[in-house]
This record gives sequence, C-alpha cells and structure tokens, in this order.
Amino acid sequence: MNIIDIIEKKKQGKELSSKEIDYFVQGYSKGEIPDYQISSLLMAIWCKGMNKKETAELTLSMVRSGKTIDLSKIRGIKVDKHSSGGVADTVSIPLVALVAVNGVPVAKMSGRGLGHTGGTIDKLESIPGFKVEIPIEKFIEIVNNVGGAIIAQSSELVIADKKMYALRDVTGTVDSIPLIASSIMSKKIAAGADAIVLDVKVGGGAFMKDLEDAKALAKTMVEIGDSVGRDTVAYITDMNQPLGDAIGNSIEIEEAVSVLKGQGGKRLVEVIKTLGGEMLYLGGKAKSSEEGKELIQKAIDSGSGLEKFKEIVRAQGGDPSFVDDFSKLPHAQFKLFVKAPESGYIKSMQTEEIGKLAAFLGAGRTKKGDKIDLAVGIMFPKKVGDYIEKGETIATILANDKEKGEQAAKELLKLLEFSNSKVEPLPLIYYKVSREGIEKLF
Ligand code: URA
Ligand code: CA
Repeated sequence: MNIIDIIEKKKQGKELSSKEIDYFVQGYSKGEIPDYQISSLLMAIWCKGMNKKETAELTLSMVRSGKTIDLSKIRGIKVDKHSSGGVADTVSIPLVALVAVNGVPVAKMSGRGLGHTGGTIDKLESIPGFKVEIPIEKFIEIVNNVGGAIIAQSSELVIADKKMYALRDVTGTVDSIPLIASSIMSKKIAAGADAIVLDVKVGGGAFMKDLEDAKALAKTMVEIGDSVGRDTVAYITDMNQPLGDAIGNSIEIEEAVSVLKGQGGKRLVEVIKTLGGEMLYLGGKAKSSEEGKELIQKAIDSGSGLEKFKEIVRAQGGDPSFVDDFSKLPHAQFKLFVKAPESGYIKSMQTEEIGKLAAFLGAGRTKKGDKIDLAVGIMFPKKVGDYIEKGETIATILANDKEKGEQAAKELLKLLEFSNSKVEPLPLIYYKVSREGIEKLF
C-alpha cells in the first residue's frame, strides 16, 4: 500500500477501504507519513467527503492511534458531554457540577481553545491552584469520591487527532463533516464514557454555518456512537451569537459561578438544563430528559450544584473561596466601554469575528502553543433582538494592553448590525438527534 495511491483514490471520489484508512492514520501518527501528504489527503476528503462506513472506520482507527481510558472502576453509568465549539460557550463547568450532584458520575476530559472558540481547560486554569493535569488513577478516584472532575485530555489519547487537528487548522480543512465527526467521536470513545451527549453548534460562530450541515454532522456522530455501543444523543443549538455574556477565561469562570448561584443568562442556562437533563436521563437518574431538566433547575435553586462545584475545585487542588470573592481571579488592567452609536435593535452579529476579537486581546490562540492571557476578554451581555439606546454601554472590553483594547472596542461595533424595526430573538435549540430520529424543537 502507498499513500500516493490513497490520495489519488480519494481525489477521484472513491471509497477508501478500512485497510487504507488505517494505513494513513497509523502511518501519520507514528511520523512515517509527512504532513504534506496528509494535508493533500485531508483536502481530498474535504472536497469529496466520506461515506458512513469510511467515517466510522476513520474514527475507530483514530481511537487505536493512542491509549484508551478504562472507567470501569467508576460506579454507575458514566455520561460525557462535548460541544463542537463556540463563543461564550460556558456550559461544561457548571454542567459537570449540576449533573454530578444528581448522582451521575462525570469523568470529563476537555480541550483548550483554538481559533475563535474558547476551551474549558484554559478557563479552569484561571482558578487559583486548580490542576488540570492529573494522573488517570487519581482522576478516577476523584470522580468516585466527589462525583465529577474535569481534566485536560491526556496527550497519549488519540494521537492521530492531535496531529490531524493541528494540520487541519492551518490547511483550511477544519469544517468537514467526516473530519469533525471522527475527531470528536474518537476522543469521546477513547475517554471511555458509556453515554455521550453532544452539543452541535450551528451558525456564524460555529464550524457548521447552516442547519442542514449541522444535522448531517449530528446524525453522523450519533451513528458512530451507536455503532460502538455508546448511547449518543445530539442537540443542535444556536451559535449565531455568543451563548453567554462573557468571552474570555477568568470572566467565563465568573459566569459559570453565576449560573450555579441562579444568576445565569437565560439562553446559557437553558442549554445547560437541556444537556444536563439528557445526561441525567441517559445516566438513569431521571425518567425522561424533561424530568432531568427539572432536577438540574433544582440543583441550581438549592445551591447544591454550587457546593458540588466547590468540592470539585478543592479535590483538584484549587481554592474554592473565589466563588464568593472574584477578586481572587485574574483581572485585566483596563476596562473600555463600548457605547451604542445609535438607538435601535440588534439585528445580527458576526460571532466568529467576535470570538477572534477576544483572541486578539489575548484570550485565545492564533496558533497552537500560544500563551494566553486569562484575565482579558469581552463582556457582551446583549443579544439579537435587544433594543439599545444611543450612548448605552453594549460591551466592556477587558484588556491588559490599552491600545489593543481601544482597537477591539472600535472593531466590535463593526461586527454588529442594527435595525430600526423590531427584531425577533433567535431560536436556541433547533433539533434533537438520537437513534430514534430527528426531532424539531423550534
Ligand atoms: N472539535 C473537535 O474536537 N474537533 C473538530 O474537528 C472540531 C471541533
Ligand atoms: Ca468561550
């Protein structure tokens, strides 16, 4: 077998055999096939696609490229959650606590931000003392004792994804359904959960820009999960605007705590309840996802979710006293207020560009390995449909470089479109995709 023939075959739009797929995945993981040939193959896959069988084979081959985690020492049904990536997507951190306190163990491995999207692990690092690199035995022990933990994905898992994702990021091949589906599902399968709840983002701030593509991605991932015996449910949720109010790292931790204190924004809380409700159902702690949602709301109202979060922070070496004193988190030096230039309704926004603006301030990476500034970001509580008075503060830029802050404040205004006539709020949850089919929810 040789890699040139495989590239040629995919270039012609032909189906690759499982042997051919395994050949390039393992060959690349081991460093036997160079970046330029895999780049070419990835572009051929981007152009010609992969069928269901090829995508499943690719996923399983990627799982075999690294170690896998055995969670069998954790009691109960382990349910994992994954977002396909968004802006102000502060879901996982409160969610783990709210699900764990309801008796479903969550052993969550998360990633760092890349491009315009934020990453849970970066956000968690703004908590004083909090450790995201924990040996697997200790991780399992924490989940058994406390009910939940979130650590950085081990570098030994799915070696193929680590290398391919980095390559895709710089070769214009991220937004391909078979490549995203195999990337996400290989990590979830290797991380060992019994059931998986996926949050597939759709819209201007997501990798999938339109609903038909998002549905196809969700369907592909649900099929892969089911084919390996992991009960998988996907929700397609809106990313035509930032989900929460904070875009950054320490400010997203503050927002996560606000959710647990019952002070979270409506849209963010609704996504957390929907995904959490499904996790409780799949984990056998609720009779339906609706009942699960109510249990999540109760854990917010009673404060038990906040207490569970503090336990998790303590177990991972952090000091939970910050939840009542945000001055213990990193804070930016400069605050710049962005004022509305005119009165009107917010009609639309360029969400991906807003995410990139936060990255420009230092909250994210423009390339792998960049150091990020945990303190900076954008507080942007306005949503599509909101009425704004001329001169009103619509956003606050948090910067450690004043010039960059001023530039970001100017740029942000260019990313918003206003209208004189009333604008309807955007839908939030579009579809639920499961083994039973596709359910419309808006
Ligand atoms: N998130 C992932 O983990 N992989 C992708 O390819 C896209 C989003
Ligand atoms: Ca974010």
